[in-house]
Amino acid sequence: MTARVFVTHQLPGERIHELARFCDLNVWMGPGLLPAATLRAEAAACQGLICLLTDRIDRQLLDAAPGLRFVSSMSVGVDHVDVAALTARGIPLGHTPGVLVDTTADTAFALLMAAARRLGEADRFVRQGKWAADTAWAPDFFTGKDVGGATLGIVGLGAIGQAMARRAAGFGMRVLAWNRTPRAVPGVELLSLDEVLAHSDFVSVHVALTEQTRQLLDARRIALMKPGAVLVNTARGGIVDECALAAALADGHLFAAGIDVYEQEPVAADNPLLGLPNVVLAPHIGSATLHTRALMADMAADNALAALRGAPMPCCVNPSVYAPGGAREPG
Ligand code: DGY
Repeated sequence: MTARVFVTHQLPGERIHELARFCDLNVWMGPGLLPAATLRAEAAACQGLICLLTDRIDRQLLDAAPGLRFVSSMSVGVDHVDVAALTARGIPLGHTPGVLVDTTADTAFALLMAAARRLGEADRFVRQGKWAADTAWAPDFFTGKDVGGATLGIVGLGAIGQAMARRAAGFGMRVLAWNRTPRAVPGVELLSLDEVLAHSDFVSVHVALTEQTRQLLDARRIALMKPGAVLVNTARGGIVDECALAAALADGHLFAAGIDVYEQEPVAADNPLLGLPNVVLAPHIGSATLHTRALMADMAADNALAALRGAPMPCCVNPSVYAPGGAREPG
């Protein structure tokens, strides 16, 4: 029997076309985000699923999809997936690490620079016609914070954290970092998380969202940050307490923030960060270049192709399913 594979969005890249030769491929054509009820109905009839980080793959969905043999997510983060539930069912989960490292670090550094130099505020100021004779160039006009020579604190020294450290080195920054398991990286001083927060002018978050990292930067830790520091988050919203961050930005404890990810996405209209002038906001675009998104889609398709062949996925989150008696064959 030809395996049926459902893809929850039209994907870029080349490999998805190859995949179509090996299965009965059904692609959600939109518009917009796939409704959860449609995902459930489609999953019920398929053996393979290629999804995005906007699709919740939980126990309820898996219960509705008894024939499901593999899931491949076009994302490196898998906090939208109940990995334990997949593993318990012997279902491999593919993801896309590596290819988005530099693109995401570029976004983080761009947000760092924009927040430091108040580019969001400055852009609005010019567009709104506020740049007039009585609000023109002056010694204190739109003054920000210097990046060159400042101290960057990296929370999570994985591949993206290390790419951030390389960028910081080019700006002559001192680089401090915290990582759950100690990791020696040239030019980076490893400290405890609280020390990194207390000694950094800029803090950039690069850990995955897990039960251990949820609200890792809570009110206590945000209060530990150096007065006048800048926080950048391109990892996941749930890692930072958004209300505590907004309060620290509003009362002047922190100078600014650059935020690409939110506890709830798309961001809720009443998110307290939205009303603050000193936050540069982006809509989860860390990996958003044409090239990188095509590479991610190709990896997601390659993971699915391997699963269809009954082979281990090249990038599998839960390889224990391949132990004897683990993964279930598609078809
Ligand atoms: C991922 O792949 O997890 C990223 O958040 C996408 O930008």
